[in-house]
Amino acid sequence: MGRIIMKWGGGLISDKSSLCTADNERIRLLADCVKTLSEMGHDIVIVHGAGSFGHIRAREYRLNEGNIDGLDQAEGINIVRSDMDDLHNLVIRALHPLSVTSHRPRDFVVNTGPDFQGHIERFLLPGIHITFGDVVDCDEPLDFGILSGDDLMLRLSTELPDVSHAIFAMGGAPGLMTSADSSGELIPLWNNNMPFSGHHSQNVDVTGGIFLKMDRADVISQFVDHVWLVDGEHTTRIVEIVEHGHTIGTRIVST
Ligand code: IPE
Repeated sequence: MGRIIMKWGGGLISDKSSLCTADNERIRLLADCVKTLSEMGHDIVIVHGAGSFGHIRAREYRLNEGNIDGLDQAEGINIVRSDMDDLHNLVIRALHPLSVTSHRPRDFVVNTGPDFQGHIERFLLPGIHITFGDVVDCDEPLDFGILSGDDLMLRLSTELPDVSHAIFAMGGAPGLMTSADSSGELIPLWNNNMPFSGHHSQNVDVTGGIFLKMDRADVISQFVDHVWLVDGEHTTRIVEIVEHGHTIGTRIVST
């Protein structure tokens, strides 16, 4: 049974506009989906995003810019880390009675972006592992920064053995769309030569939004057969990918 690496977007599991507001029902449904996949015998890594538990405060304290002279950001680091712990604990609780191994990036990662330092082998033990986008320490002069779950997806999907699926579960759309308005149509098969429409709320998101995600998904598709962007509100679609190899969503293929 292949290993499944799955991202739960922060906008899917929280209300992005309202500080630290989790969507418990969506978390419950995603957790049920993981239970189903686990019963099928898959090893699973869950990477969850931050949504309103991370972006709002991280932006307020400019944590994504690293250490800024004259600005007291220590309080912000503590708040965002503690809020992320709250969200993380909600997710772990929803996964009960599955036993999961939790890896907080701040405990094993240095630096941000796709080349962060950190031992990915810790995710190799059989079973279910879970990690998330976090505030991590960085080399000087930055000292700290925001590691996106999408960069964790990239490293986990390309460095762990036997990865059969990398699935990005998002909220608000069935997959990648031709246009962001109501005339937009789902792009069922995408490679990085093809255009798509996406909106990046630069005044909310401290990480790269859909453009970062598609960039990372493209790299992953060079290593992993099934790379998908799906609407995480319909968790049966995730199970369909694993069971049948197709569903409503966008499959990302290498060029
Ligand atoms: C962001 O992680 C982490 C923080 C802001 C602390 P992600 O980039 O993975 O989060 P989402 O999915 O966009 O919310």
